[in-house]
Amino acid sequence: MKKILVTGGAGFIGSNFINYMLKSRDDVFIVNLDKLTYAGNLENLKESEANSNYTFIKGDICNFELVDYIFNKFGIKHVINFAAESHVDRSILGSEIFFQSNVIGTNILLEAARRYQVERFLQISTDEVYGSLGPEGLFTETTPLSPNSPYSASKASADMMALAFHHTYGLPVVVTRCSNNYGPLQFPEKLIPLMILNTLGNKKLPVYGDGLNVRDWIYVIDHNRAAELVWEKGNPGHVYNIGAEQEMKNIDIVKLILSHLGKTDDMIEYVKDRPGHDRRYAIDSTKIKTELGWKPEFKFEEAIKNTIDWYLSNNQWWERIINGAYKDYYISMYQNFYKHK
Ligand code: NAD
Ligand code: TYD
Repeated sequence: MKKILVTGGAGFIGSNFINYMLKSRDDVFIVNLDKLTYAGNLENLKESEANSNYTFIKGDICNFELVDYIFNKFGIKHVINFAAESHVDRSILGSEIFFQSNVIGTNILLEAARRYQVERFLQISTDEVYGSLGPEGLFTETTPLSPNSPYSASKASADMMALAFHHTYGLPVVVTRCSNNYGPLQFPEKLIPLMILNTLGNKKLPVYGDGLNVRDWIYVIDHNRAAELVWEKGNPGHVYNIGAEQEMKNIDIVKLILSHLGKTDDMIEYVKDRPGHDRRYAIDSTKIKTELGWKPEFKFEEAIKNTIDWYLSNNQWWERIINGAYKDYYISMYQNFYKHK
């Protein structure tokens, strides 16, 4: 049995990861440590909660004593660190919690991993650490780090610390840098679920700037299959980019959502741009494909429609968010903070 501490497992990607792992294998025991911030939701784990290979602990990765207790009590030998503050717009409003959870929290996990001599530490990172691309070119693992937002700067710091623990102490660290994810259970502050729910609620769809910023989209299950592979087979001390070669302009995604839901483009509202808005992200994932044999299984055109349909048929999930305790977090940032053009 592999005893894994998964952090941030009640968020979008982490909960999809836990559900996927427990469904597909029985050689893992997962302890999910999650602070349950506005982005964490135990509803996401309904299908896993009764599994005897799973346990949940509400807590903060910055809590040294709690983290130490968990490693000791459960004999943790693997760490997969998803826990993070993850929204760029929120990091622009206030960076401190990003530094706290993403940098200091990762450091506390790394120190515990060193004390307890873990066999593997997977740091889940992002392509945003590389900064912004012009119209040509792709991020490779050797692209210099050049983060532009407080969010991406905090993630880059955590990556550097994780890799330094490998270099200095020989801790078996692996780092993944994935592109933008979409799929079920994503909190409706990020582009795709926000636009879906605004469309369903007959609200305006706020497109930042000229709408021509490009992101490279990957279905969450493809990311999680890649994370599983890197966790088991990745080379210690190595970074692996993950992307599905699905570059899209924001405006085209918004129009696709509108058309799939039978609505017209006049719901789009161009608003003032996000400060420091990165223009383009695009991933070269040759390394994970050739070294580890990974390839994405989901095509954007299909999987985005399935995602929209998931939100259509899971209104209880998102109604709890938009009407419940965290309703203030379901906002498009422009309404409160970025002024109209
Ligand atoms: P999310 O915001 O949906 O979930 C984050 C989870 O972490 C939440 O459950 C939250 O409660 C928990 N958390 C936050 N701070 C914590 C703390 N101090 N202690 C314990 N738990 C804490 O984020 P997500 O989109 O699922 O992203 C997960 C990871 O993947 C992050 O590290 C993010 O940087 C990375 N990532 C995300 C994307 C993307 O497109 N969403 C792409 C690449 C990488
Ligand atoms: P987001 O989902 O916040 O991810 P990230 O900034 O980490 O890439 O945003 C994706 C893109 O969509 C980004 O270029 C900003 C843009 N965007 C909008 O135009 N309007 C919105 O309301 C949001 C949330 C994002």
